[in-house]
Amino acid sequence: MCLASMNNCCWKSSGGCRPLASQWVGWFAVSLWILSVSLVAGQGTGGEKGSLDLNEETKGLYIGCFKERVDIYDALVYAGNADSCVDICERAYFRYAVLSSSKCACSKEFDQASRLDQAICHMRCKRNKAQFCGGVDSQSYYATGVKVSGPPTNLSIGNITETTMLLHWSDPAQPSYLTRFVIRANVLKTFATSPLSQSLEWGVGDHERHLHLLNLHPGTLYNITVSSMCDETNCGTAAIEAETLIGKPDPLPGEPVILERNGTTMKVSVPEAINNNGPVTFYRLVVMIINDEFQLEFDEALLGSYNRSVDNGVPYYVTAQFPYQSQFLIGDGKIRGGYYNAPLPPDSHIHVSLGIVSDYKGIKTVAYATATHKQHSNRLTDSNATDDDQTSVVALSVACVIFGLLLIASFVVYGYLRFKTGNRPQRLSDNHELTLQGPMVEVENNGYVPDSKLKENFRDQLSLALDDLDSSQKFARNAVRLNIDHILAQGSFGDVMSGKLQANAENLDCQVHVISDDIESQDQAVLLKELNQMIRLMPHEKFLTFYGVSASADWVYLIFELPPVLLKKRLVEARIPPSVDSARFSAISEEMILQWIYDISVAMEYLETNKAVHKKLCSYCVYVTNTNQIKLSIFGPPRLADHEKQIDISRWMAPEVLRFQHHSTKSDVWSYACLAWECCTLGATLYANITSQDLLPRMKNGLRPEQPAFIFNDLYQLFLNCWQIEPSERPDFEEVAFNVRQALTSPRHCLSYDRLDNILIPYYLPLLELKN
Ligand SMILES: *[C@@H]1O[C@H](CO)[C@@H](O)[C@H](O)[C@H]1NC(C)=O
Ligand SMILES: *[C@@H]1O[C@H](CO)[C@@H](O)[C@H](O)[C@H]1NC(C)=O
Repeated sequence: MCLASMNNCCWKSSGGCRPLASQWVGWFAVSLWILSVSLVAGQGTGGEKGSLDLNEETKGLYIGCFKERVDIYDALVYAGNADSCVDICERAYFRYAVLSSSKCACSKEFDQASRLDQAICHMRCKRNKAQFCGGVDSQSYYATGVKVSGPPTNLSIGNITETTMLLHWSDPAQPSYLTRFVIRANVLKTFATSPLSQSLEWGVGDHERHLHLLNLHPGTLYNITVSSMCDETNCGTAAIEAETLIGKPDPLPGEPVILERNGTTMKVSVPEAINNNGPVTFYRLVVMIINDEFQLEFDEALLGSYNRSVDNGVPYYVTAQFPYQSQFLIGDGKIRGGYYNAPLPPDSHIHVSLGIVSDYKGIKTVAYATATHKQHSNRLTDSNATDDDQTSVVALSVACVIFGLLLIASFVVYGYLRFKTGNRPQRLSDNHELTLQGPMVEVENNGYVPDSKLKENFRDQLSLALDDLDSSQKFARNAVRLNIDHILAQGSFGDVMSGKLQANAENLDCQVHVISDDIESQDQAVLLKELNQMIRLMPHEKFLTFYGVSASADWVYLIFELPPVLLKKRLVEARIPPSVDSARFSAISEEMILQWIYDISVAMEYLETNKAVHKKLCSYCVYVTNTNQIKLSIFGPPRLADHEKQIDISRWMAPEVLRFQHHSTKSDVWSYACLAWECCTLGATLYANITSQDLLPRMKNGLRPEQPAFIFNDLYQLFLNCWQIEPSERPDFEEVAFNVRQALTSPRHCLSYDRLDNILIPYYLPLLELKN
C-alpha cells in the first residue's frame, strides 16, 4: 500500500518499500485516494462497515488488522499503547487510531479490501502487553468513538455585492467526525429572463469556516446550503436565504422611434425594455440636441435635468421619467417624474435615447442606451439626415479605393520578396530566430504521425527508437522483477506496474510500463513521439530518470524511476489551518517555494534551448524528492484508461492552446506562470469557482489568477507578463529564470507566509481540477 501515499511513504522502516518516483504512481495515488474515499462511502451505504453503523464503534474498540497504508494524515506521533493513540486521534476528531509498533497515526477511514488475518498483527504494545500494535507491514486499527457530524450551525451572510457574498458558518453542535463541507446556492427567485444555471456548488476542507461565494447573479434570491460531509455521506445540511444586490440594467434598452416632429414637440414610441439584473421600475427619456460642428461625447456623469444642462452648457438632458407607456410626447412643458419636459428648440436636430431605472430595496441603478440616426423613421422630419448619409457614402467610396490600391501594392511586394528569397534558400535555413517559436519537436516527428501503416510498423519503429539507447540502458529480462500483483495504472499504452531493477549491483525501485501490442495506432504515434523526445533530451537532473528498456520480440518494458511526492500534494499539505496556533500559515518557507519556482524555470529553459515544447506543464507533472529537489515529468500527467478520473489541464493552458491547440514555448511560459502561482498559493486551484467552459471567454476579458495579499507586486507582475494574451509579448524562459533568480536574493520582498488578520489563502478545490 506504499503507493497510496504521497508523503510519509513507508514510515515503517522494516517494510520493503521506499519513496517512489514518476508520474504514473503519483497520479495513481491521487486516483486511489479518490477511489478510497468513494469506497468507504460505498461501504457505508452497503452496510458492511462504515459511517452508518459508526455509532456502534465505541471508543477503544479493536477494529482489526490491516495492510500497512501510508496515506494517513497525521502519522509519526509516539504512543506506547492503544489508549493514548485513541485519545490523540479522538481529540483531532478522527474515526480511527492506527498503531504500528509504537507509532500512532490517525485515519478517517479504513480500506475493507486490505483487511488481514488477525494473527498478522501479533506485536504487543510496549506499554500495554494486552493490546496489539500491528505487525510486519500491517497495522492495528482502533475506533476512537467519535460521532459523525451534524449540520453546521450559525450560518450567516455578510458583505453582499451584486455578484458575491461572504458566507460564514460554525462547527456542528458537537465536536465530531467530518471530512469537508459542500456549499450549494440554488436560485429561488431572479429577475433574469434566461434560465440561470440551476445550482452553484463549492467544496472546502473541514477546517474552513467561511467562503466567498463568487459568480452569483445580481438581484437574485438564493437558497444557500452548507452540508457537512462525512466521507462522501452527507451528514447534515443547514440552509440560509440571501439575495444579491441588483446590478446595472442589462441588456441596454432599445431606441425610441420618432413618430412625428411638430415644431417644439416630438412624439416618440417607447420600446418595452427587459432587465436581467433587476426590475424595470421607470423609463427615462433623454433628449440630445445634435450640433454637427461641435459634438460632445455622451457622458452619464454630466446628464441631469433640463435646467442643469442649460447651466452647464451640456447638449443633453433627461426630459421625463415615467412607468411604462408605449408613446410619449416630448416638449409639452409639463413636469414628468420630477423632470421638466422642456419645449424643443424649433428646427433643431434631435436624438432621443432611453434609460432604464431599476429601483429595488433601497438600491437604484440606471443604464442608458445611446441613440443612433436610425430612429428617424420618417426622413422628412429631419433634413440633416440625407446630408449625413451622402457624406458617409463619399467617405466609404474613398476608403474602398485606397484599400484596393494597398492590396495591389502588397501583391507586388510579396512577389518581389518571394523572388529574392527563392534565390537564397540557405540564408533562411540558417536563421534560427525564425524557427525558434514553433513546436519543433512536432515537426521533427511528423514522419511518424500520418502513416496509416503505422500499426504494422510499430514494432520496427519502436526498436529503431530504442536502438539509439546506450547499452547501459538496455536490460535483460531477468534484471527486471515485476510485481504483477501491483498494477499502478492502466495507461493508454498498456499496464504500469511496480517492480525492482537490478542495475550496477544496485536494486532499484522502479515502475515498469508494459507496452501492449494492441494499443490504438494514434496512441502508438504519441508513444513513439514522446519516447523519441525523451531519449533525445534525457537525462537531466531536473527531470525524472528514465532507467531504460527491456525488450525482445515478445515484450517491451519501459523502466522509470518511481516517484517521490507529487508537488501538488506537498503544497496542499503545507497549509497550516487557522485552527492551529501558528504565526505562519505555511509549513514551507518562502525561500523553498521560490527555489522550486526557479528550478522549474531552469528545467523549462533546458527544453526551450533544445527546441522542445512541453505542452502539458502543470503541478501534476512535477514531483519533489526527499531532499526537496524538483523532478519534472516530461510526459505530463498520464492519460489513463477512459473509466478513470483524469486531471483536466485546461486551467493551466494559454488561451491560444484552448482555442487553436497552438502549442509553443510561449504557451509553456503561460502554463509555467500558472504553476508558479500555484506554488506561491500553496496549491490553490486556478480560477476557483469558474468552470472550464467559461475560462476562454473570461480570459479574453482579462481574467487572470488573482493576486492574494501575500504575493507582492514584483513577483505578481512577472506572472502577469507571462499571461499576456499575445504570445510574443511574453518573456522567454531565459528571461523568466533570470528574474526568478533575482527574486531569490530577497524572498521576503516577493512572498510572505506570516499569518496576518485579513490573509485569505485562495481555495484548493480538487473537484474542479478533474475531468468530469
Ligand atoms: C466587508 O468588506 C469590507 C470592505 O471590503 C471589509 O472591511 C469588511 O471586513 C468585510 N466584512 C467581513 C465580514 O468580512
Ligand atoms: C433550501 O434548501 C434546504 C436544503 O435543501 C431545504 O430544506 C429548504 O426547504 C430550502 N428552502 C427553500 C425556501 O426552498
